[in-house]
Amino acid sequence: MMNYQPYLEVAETAARSAGNILRRAFAEGAGARAVSAEAAHDLKLRLDEELQSHITAILLAAFPETSLLGEEGDAGAADSSLCWVVDPLDGTVNFFYGLPIFCVSIALQHAGRTVLGCVYDPMQQECYTAVLGDAPRCNGQIIAVSNRTRMAEAVVFVGHGTHDGSGAAGLHRFGYISSRVRKMRILGSAALSLCYIAAGRMDAYVEDRISLWDFAAAGFILEMAGGVLEYTPHEASGRKGAVLAWNGRIPLKEQLLNSTLTSSV
Ligand code: IPD
Ligand code: CA
Repeated sequence: MMNYQPYLEVAETAARSAGNILRRAFAEGAGARAVSAEAAHDLKLRLDEELQSHITAILLAAFPETSLLGEEGDAGAADSSLCWVVDPLDGTVNFFYGLPIFCVSIALQHAGRTVLGCVYDPMQQECYTAVLGDAPRCNGQIIAVSNRTRMAEAVVFVGHGTHDGSGAAGLHRFGYISSRVRKMRILGSAALSLCYIAAGRMDAYVEDRISLWDFAAAGFILEMAGGVLEYTPHEASGRKGAVLAWNGRIPLKEQLLNSTLTSSV
């Protein structure tokens, strides 16, 4: 098996470097939060684009043979079998509104299969990492999903995406699940939500329309920590789809099959 550890080390350097920029920008307040595009349920900041360029420069300088797919565009060698999947700022709306819940997310795929993930939360200074052949970690400490097995004791995240239909579908599921579990949460960062499940803090995540860069790194970390992530692509590119993720123990899927599993988006 190829040794992906050197790739993880560079991914962590890039994630921490971008995260440090984010933390400083967050402290500066509104001045550092210039909006470059706005939609009904979404915002794009100038910082999103600047950070992706920053991360791209670090990753491609270390590994010029790789390509990169990111929320802010693609880069690198077009025919490479090694592809970085990058979300420079997951939780953009939280960041903009001054809520300190956001992160940097970097995954590496080899021939379409994720082989490492790194998610850095600059406000908590928590760095979640996983690589094939090693245990998943948070700041170097091994992590694992929770032991909870009953819906009644579970805490479940629901993602409220940027698409009108997916938001409505998410709320439908929110209503269905909320009466069956201990608590529901909408964190505003899919990547951090999945890392919290990987670390055993929470138990499941449901979102009807999510992009590959939102969950590639954290979904891999979750699977390495014993969780399950099921992805149903909505489009041929495979870049957008529905995600169902849980600790592998609570009967979330069975419960949702009783609800409406597919949305109209
Ligand atoms: C969003 C967040 C949000 C999720 C959306 C994503 P962004 O990413 O992860 O929690 O519900 O689907 O688009 O726009 O903050 O990078
Ligand atoms: Ca994102």
